[in-house]
Amino acid sequence: SLPTSTYTREEVSKKTSKETGIWVIYNNKVFDITAFVENHPGGSSKIMLAAGKNLEPFWDIYAIHKKDEIFEMLNEFYIGDLEKNDWIDQKSSGPFANDPPRHPGLLVCSKEPFNAETPSILLNENLLTPNELFFIRNHLPVPDLSNNAEIVIEGDCLKEPIILSFEDIKAKFEKFKLIAAIQCAGNRRNEMNAIKNVKGLTWNHSAISNAEWGGVLLYDILISAGVDPNNSNIKHIHFEGCDLDPSGAPYGASIPADRVFKKQLPIIIAYEMNGKPLSRDHGFPLRVIAPGIVGARNVKWLKRIILSDKEYNGHWQQNDYKPFSPNIDWHNVDFKKAMAIQELPVTSAICLPLNDSTVHENEKEITIKGYAYSGGGCGIIRVDISVDNGKTWVTADLVQADQNITDMYSWTLWECSVPIPIDHGGKMEIICKAQDSSCNTQPETVGPVWNLRGVLNNAWHRVQVNVET
Ligand code: HEM
Ligand code: MTE
Repeated sequence: SLPTSTYTREEVSKKTSKETGIWVIYNNKVFDITAFVENHPGGSSKIMLAAGKNLEPFWDIYAIHKKDEIFEMLNEFYIGDLEKNDWIDQKSSGPFANDPPRHPGLLVCSKEPFNAETPSILLNENLLTPNELFFIRNHLPVPDLSNNAEIVIEGDCLKEPIILSFEDIKAKFEKFKLIAAIQCAGNRRNEMNAIKNVKGLTWNHSAISNAEWGGVLLYDILISAGVDPNNSNIKHIHFEGCDLDPSGAPYGASIPADRVFKKQLPIIIAYEMNGKPLSRDHGFPLRVIAPGIVGARNVKWLKRIILSDKEYNGHWQQNDYKPFSPNIDWHNVDFKKAMAIQELPVTSAICLPLNDSTVHENEKEITIKGYAYSGGGCGIIRVDISVDNGKTWVTADLVQADQNITDMYSWTLWECSVPIPIDHGGKMEIICKAQDSSCNTQPETVGPVWNLRGVLNNAWHRVQVNVET
């Protein structure tokens, strides 16, 4: 047999285009799939997510590939082996060295701390985002906890702190499950940056994902701890994580207590995500799920719950995640005067087609897919699509979780087919906008909601597509 070539991971990682050749790794073997990409039955854009990378993490999710005929097909593209030293991905050093491995399909927004979004073309595929592809928002290194972890409940209203082990939580309280989306306040910040620079990670429109969470109701835990739901001194509920900043302060946030005691918001102390234990990145072993409320209050790696008459005093509650008027800048900003974001506004976005992609006029129709979501338990009642600058609108078909429309914490997926306009002039702009069950609508443009931190961009979402004749 022929001597086999060996390649380094570094070499393979550069083979990501037709020009360089498109290579992938499977089982420490290297394959040149350049000629196959256009013929991939699952579409060229999906297979390209693995270009220069390992196939395993993708085929773990799209498991239809794990069958003999596909392994045989792959073998035809075999060109050599991966260098032995590279069989295991090298670990970095420094405070983030102990962060967990991540799915290579995630689009990385910052490596340390790790922040990444789901690829737009995969976002609309599942009502429940696969755990490995769920977007990740970390401010600090990921703590390495065991399931011996405990949480402490404290407050002036309690005689002494109450300690609950992970096992106590699983054994002593009724299990509660709920489908809920998490969205970062900075989702779609890139469109704000395009108007005037803002501070923050440049998220596209995929800093949002949806999962079924399993855990116990915070309400049940507090009642069993002896907390009086009518105690008017309890105004805020604080949550602290185990991730520490360089000064030793934890990530923390708070939620007004009325959300739990008056509005009966089903806030969950969660240990499961889509039926599996939480992964390290998503808060193992315990995290807060605050449905309908901004991602920042969904504290991961939960350590302490504090019942207080004041809002949490940490950085991310006081000096971040607050909305401002467009004319506030870094010279006149006063974080003390602004309210901390809780419920999120109605939003929607187009996942497919991608911005700057190309369709052919002969196709006559274009399929458009996306998501819509609103905070405060408001479900989505309609999504409208326009390809003629808002002159006419097509109503999309909705895919929703089985939840009451005024108690909906899941996102809504939508899809529609729209005729390509005859007078397209080589380009078309697709616009989407949604309406929620309180009849709230989205603003038409980003300008009037622009703010210096780049949060809460919920303007009509627009995607430019080239039309070939
Ligand atoms: C479908 C091959 C990589 C996503 C398929 C099918 C084949 C195939 C033969 C048709 C299967 C069937 O209908 O039974 C390959 C090969 C790959 C590769 C040889 C790499 C060299 C990927 C990657 C992804 C992906 C990286 C995802 C990110 C899909 C999807 C389908 C599909 C979504 C369609 C599934 C459906 O219709 O239900 N692929 N694939 N593939 N593939 Fe791949
Ligand atoms: N909890 C802790 N302990 N540390 C964090 O950095 N990030 C918050 C929140 N909870 C964060 C946290 C933010 S801003 C968001 S948007 C969500 O977690 C993201 O959750 P996810 O990473 O599971 O998607």
